[in-house]
Amino acid sequence: MPSLNEVAEFNTVNGIGVLSLDSPPVNALSAAVRAGLLAGLNQAAADETVRAVVLICRGRTFIAGADITEFGGPPKGPGLGEVQDALENSSKPVIAAIHGTALGGGLEVALCCHYRVALGSARCGLPEVNLGLLPGAGGTQRLPRLVGVEKALEMMTSGRHAPAGECLELGLVDQLVPEGELESAAIAFAEQVVAEGRPLRKVRDIDEKLEAARGKPEIFEAFRKGIARRTRGFLAPEYNVRCVEAAVNLDFAGGMAVEQELFRELITGPQSLAQRHVFFAEREIWKLPDVPRDTPRIEIQKVGIIGAGTMGGGIAMNFANVGIPVTLVETSQEALDRGLGVIRANYERTASRGRLSSEEVEERVGLIAGSLEMEKIADVDLVIEAVFESMPLKKEIFARLDAVVRPGAILASNTSALDVNEIAQATTRPESVIGLHFFSPANVMKLVEVVRGDASSDPVIATSMAISKRIGKNAALVGVCPGFVGNRILSARQVQANRLIMEGAMPWDVDRVLFDFGLPMGPFAMSDLAGLDIGWNKKKSKGETVRDVLCEMDRRGQKTGAGFYDYDERRNATPSPVVEKIIREFAARGGSEARAISDDEILARCVYPMINEGVKILAEGKAIRASDIDVIWISGYGWPAYRGGPMFYAEQVGLAEVLGRLQELAKEYGEAFAPAPLLEELVAQGQSFRDRGF
Ligand code: 3HC
Ligand code: NAI
Repeated sequence: MPSLNEVAEFNTVNGIGVLSLDSPPVNALSAAVRAGLLAGLNQAAADETVRAVVLICRGRTFIAGADITEFGGPPKGPGLGEVQDALENSSKPVIAAIHGTALGGGLEVALCCHYRVALGSARCGLPEVNLGLLPGAGGTQRLPRLVGVEKALEMMTSGRHAPAGECLELGLVDQLVPEGELESAAIAFAEQVVAEGRPLRKVRDIDEKLEAARGKPEIFEAFRKGIARRTRGFLAPEYNVRCVEAAVNLDFAGGMAVEQELFRELITGPQSLAQRHVFFAEREIWKLPDVPRDTPRIEIQKVGIIGAGTMGGGIAMNFANVGIPVTLVETSQEALDRGLGVIRANYERTASRGRLSSEEVEERVGLIAGSLEMEKIADVDLVIEAVFESMPLKKEIFARLDAVVRPGAILASNTSALDVNEIAQATTRPESVIGLHFFSPANVMKLVEVVRGDASSDPVIATSMAISKRIGKNAALVGVCPGFVGNRILSARQVQANRLIMEGAMPWDVDRVLFDFGLPMGPFAMSDLAGLDIGWNKKKSKGETVRDVLCEMDRRGQKTGAGFYDYDERRNATPSPVVEKIIREFAARGGSEARAISDDEILARCVYPMINEGVKILAEGKAIRASDIDVIWISGYGWPAYRGGPMFYAEQVGLAEVLGRLQELAKEYGEAFAPAPLLEELVAQGQSFRDRGF
């Protein structure tokens, strides 16, 4: 085989040069790939018998982007710009043959080819925004020239992978070709280009679609308004928009200069560093040091769920969405009907927004059956229990499951706080028992904590991770401890939030600081949303806490129109003078005098105990890696990805700085801030979490 280097080959078929790349896993544009591309183009130029070139990739995908692992390192080999110039200025037509995904730099390479063909199953996109970046190899200038301004803005700020059919309609792809025939069809396309003497079409020279947007700044203003909420705090979406504006208002070279400048700013800035960390963290969570990769998996063909309440219904939808039939078991027909009704209503709401067809609604609803008999799930492969949070009830249910469900099935609990080991002891097969802790709303939230019990077997753990991946979740393997990982860290914050309002801050002060930090909401807004009466008992309530008093006044959160805040009929919140008075009275009774508390103190007192708790969790082995904790807080609680998760944030601030602040706070406010011994050790030895194997 005429190999160009370790990743590239060049063959000639009937006068068509086939330049193929093979650099697993995703043919990212590493130095070797760039060198191979350049060598192939030089060879094509030098060989008189070659009339056109097909650029194709081996393995699972076309080029999926720049090699992210090279970012931040010294430049190596030929630059991407040099390769792209060689492609675009080739005197012989170059045709990109796309399968899998042409993403980021990969699509930007394809956009420098003169034509593009793709399999119907392929997808194209510029997902750089998800890495805190913008397409920095001409994508911001070429994409709008092909697909128009609005579409380019939408694709670049969402990072969406557009299916090939849509790409064909948009003009991003010139022809779809049959599965299994990519190479031969691309060669045939190239022969046709040569036979018909079609021009060497350069995307940079196309102008009609940009012309349509010239002198219309309102297009950009409207677009910015439309994405403002979703992209709050992120720099990259705005920078992507500015590049498209430049494409419209400047010539190609001018637009490229803007792209280069903004790209450089993003790639050297803190947000992209954090978002690249998140990209790799989300891939690392699946790696389990003590569960071998080849552990046999239990095949999950049918699922049973006990309890069709808030969580059971949402969990069921996840499985129906990927075609796995589910049986929901309830205690009464009424509860069952209510649960199934909520599921249907949820699907219909999605359909009414155009995101599901009515056939798909029926198909999914049809996959979810209800029953009042546990025996109906005797033959399932996985059971998830989601009944009330009560240990005696859970034990009773697991004993029943043990008697009824086939041996070898996984018996999982969705408990948010109870001891999974104790639940497992209610069965004769604790090795089959595990926690699968979903987050509410379970059909939406991306996180599952897979809670391993002392006895959970490797196949049960491996299968739990795999099935979570299949239903589109980020799963983190965690150990048994109160609140597991996510809620344990949340509690550390809640303790401080409650203390802060006794010292003089108001709930809306605390919420504002955390909202401005980038969280979707602060602790008090979150309590109002969830309902202040979760875990509250009317009969036992004696007005001992602010929450008790609010519940007793029927201020039980958004659902009653009032909680820490007052709500109007559209659920807009305003600070409540009544609540302020109650809090002041409580504080006065406790003997503390209200003082002004700075935003900086609020942030430190809420966030540093979270970090400290995270370190304790690592020291106890309840989470595998610091980056797993980051994924948990980003996908389960909305920690802003541009701050990389609490543990990444701690390292950005500096572990020594965090330790110093905790020590100061401990002097003032006591034990709750006592630094974790592991944190002290890391700082003493100048180590990062990763240096210590976390
Ligand atoms: N660079 C380096 N490594 C990459 C990579 C990239 N661009 N994309 C994926 N990988 C690695 C992953 O880290 C993973 O490694 P691991 O097996 O050691 O964990 C491996 O490839 C497989 O990745 P996935 O597990 O994600 O595989 P999937 O099949 O689920 O998904 C994919 C494939 C859709 C290509 C997905 O990997 C993906 O979205 N990749 C990133 C695409 C992207 O963001 N491209 C833009 C890069 S930035 C850029 O191009 C800048 C330019 O404008 C200048
Ligand atoms: P819920 O009260 O909405 O639903 C519980 C359902 O279980 C009810 O429909 C009830 O009729 C049914 N049930 C009770 N006993 C049963 C039995 N013996 N057999 C069959 N069904 C029975 O409760 P929710 O909120 O769905 O919580 C369920 C579990 O999920 C709890 O363990 C909770 O801690 C946990 N969880 C809840 C979260 C939340 O935000 N609501 C988040 C994560 C976990």
